Amino acid sequence: MSTTAPADQTTAKVYPPSPEMAASAHIDAAKYEEMYAASIADPEAFWGEHGKRIDWIKPYTIVKNTNFEPGNVSIKWFEDGTMNVSANCIDRHLATRGDQTAIIFEPDNPEEDAQHITYKQLHVAVCKMANILEDLGVRRGDRVVLYLPMVPEAAYAMLACARIGAIHSIVFAGFSPDALSARINGSDAKVVITADYAPRGGRQTPLKSNADAALLHCKDTVKCLVVKRTGGQTTWVEGRDFDYNELALEADEYSKPVEMNAEDPLFILYTSGSTGQPKGVVHCSGGYLVFASMTHEYVFDYKDGDIFWCTADVGWVTGHSYIVYGPLANGATTVMFEGVPTYPDASRFWQVCEKHKVNQFYTAPTALRALMGQGNEFVEKCDLSSLRILGTVGEPINPEAWNWYNDVIGKGKCPIVDTWWQTETGGHLLTPLPGAHALKPGSAMKPFFGVQTVVLDPHTGEEIHDYPCEGVLCLKDSWPSQMRTVWGDHERFEKTYFSDYKGYYFAGDGCKRDADGDYWITGRVDDVINVSGHRMGTAEVESALVAHASVAEAAVVGYPHDIKGQGIYCYVTLMNGVEPSDDLRKELRTWVRTEIGPIASPDVIQWAPGLPKTRSGKIMRRILRKIAENDYGSLGDTSTLADPSVVDDLIANRAG
Ligand code: WT7
Repeated sequence: MSTTAPADQTTAKVYPPSPEMAASAHIDAAKYEEMYAASIADPEAFWGEHGKRIDWIKPYTIVKNTNFEPGNVSIKWFEDGTMNVSANCIDRHLATRGDQTAIIFEPDNPEEDAQHITYKQLHVAVCKMANILEDLGVRRGDRVVLYLPMVPEAAYAMLACARIGAIHSIVFAGFSPDALSARINGSDAKVVITADYAPRGGRQTPLKSNADAALLHCKDTVKCLVVKRTGGQTTWVEGRDFDYNELALEADEYSKPVEMNAEDPLFILYTSGSTGQPKGVVHCSGGYLVFASMTHEYVFDYKDGDIFWCTADVGWVTGHSYIVYGPLANGATTVMFEGVPTYPDASRFWQVCEKHKVNQFYTAPTALRALMGQGNEFVEKCDLSSLRILGTVGEPINPEAWNWYNDVIGKGKCPIVDTWWQTETGGHLLTPLPGAHALKPGSAMKPFFGVQTVVLDPHTGEEIHDYPCEGVLCLKDSWPSQMRTVWGDHERFEKTYFSDYKGYYFAGDGCKRDADGDYWITGRVDDVINVSGHRMGTAEVESALVAHASVAEAAVVGYPHDIKGQGIYCYVTLMNGVEPSDDLRKELRTWVRTEIGPIASPDVIQWAPGLPKTRSGKIMRRILRKIAENDYGSLGDTSTLADPSVVDDLIANRAG
């Protein structure tokens, strides 16, 4: 289903770590083998030890208490320990690195000054934000929605919630007012934190007015805290809206971190699945932080003094774990970039690397493909000599993009860590370690410590022990940053992840495992597509389309797209009497953007007088995918269709 079929492993070139890298990295090949074996042989002992990498108020005595059995799924780590995430990310560094930069903020506009925020300054800012939230009535366990640009205040707000025990739920600033109100209501949030505008790529998204529109559909007790980013005009509702910058002037500079249980929720993050509306993935405090900080250190070979840059947005899990929580728990310097890779031009990423002397750079294959197409002169004019480790995430990386990353960006001397994980997993599950593994372009390589990946036969549900093999990717046992539940719907949690293959966590991806035991992700095996590294449920786009008055029925599938990985291909059946037209196509595209957000924009809309259905009325998506992929040779058996002629019509009128 992925556009990037894994390379033929027998012929692929292999890139072993350089002797210097193997010698200097935290983990070399022998150490990986030893630690991995120990982590599987005795998870209690392994995590009992590594759980100590963060500070506990009351140390845990119970390490692991997890159950994947359908009907009784329950995941708890370090359950009798207490701690505070914010204190771990800030306070414990104050004595040793108070004047070290915690966050480098690089604004959208390169003419605007970057900000260097030290751990001491971060402490003050987070305490102030915590006090402001408490003054607005936020208490331990309450939900706070963040709808913010990539500004330091986003990190302050996350850490302030963690400090007082509130649960944050970040909504990516590219989402529409409808998506925002659904998430505010879904978690019954007390406060929404937003900004006047979000500058991005030279344009400005009117976040506050989006929030105003969303709040029309929320309880009138929900308060809105507004960060001034551009100073642009906004409307103001007295009694509901509060000015963060004004309140911060007066707010107290100290707030005591609340003693939280390891299993108290830290955040909710909505993500798309194959059915229904997005679900609120719940992550808890202790296990999440242990795993995020440990993967950040080992996967990126982070060392004291390094400058770490993850280009994600805090609206996605990558931003949670590898811009904020992992790096700050490790006392790192983390870069927060507000802009986009191609503004003002295609050298922006590389200029930022040069300007801030970035050592670890972590981005998505879609960004690399877009930049690769712009030509190497944008890279060559920048000094990238500070780079030591490169990383990718979000989708399989095609060998061309991998080679470009390796040769042109890394100059052949920076290992590339291809990290496979999910919103649900909280941190990296499959990845090479820079000093340990011989890299293969396109392979996410090996399980991280404590991670028990298995390949199952999709038909029998049995584990496949052969090498090489192909099947569905599952997890045999828990790891500390596994999601704990779906917010408000534990049954959906069990049904989504634990019911297809009994006794396993089912990730939704297919994979191959080669003769060396290295994993190659082949893409989603469900009705989820991966657009520019963002997960999109086809059902979500379909329900947005059918909400339009002219649409009778819609079926959405992914198709290969050069830059995005997968594009969104929509088959639309119009209401009786409605005439298809290019204007209507445009209107539907705009409609989906306003219903969900620009990331859900249909790439192709094909008018479909009929959809291929079985006699029982089930849409045969397999056929629609083949047509969208322009692959008619392998349509398979169409004899079970209620009306096989529908397929000929769709092929004859294939769009694009
Ligand atoms: C899905 C999870 C984890 C943060 C970004 C996306 C795909 C992710 C890789 C990779 C191949 C990958 C999978 C996964 N995916 N990383 N390195 N190689 N596929 O998080 O939105 O939760 O999506 O992204 O299909 O299931 P997400």
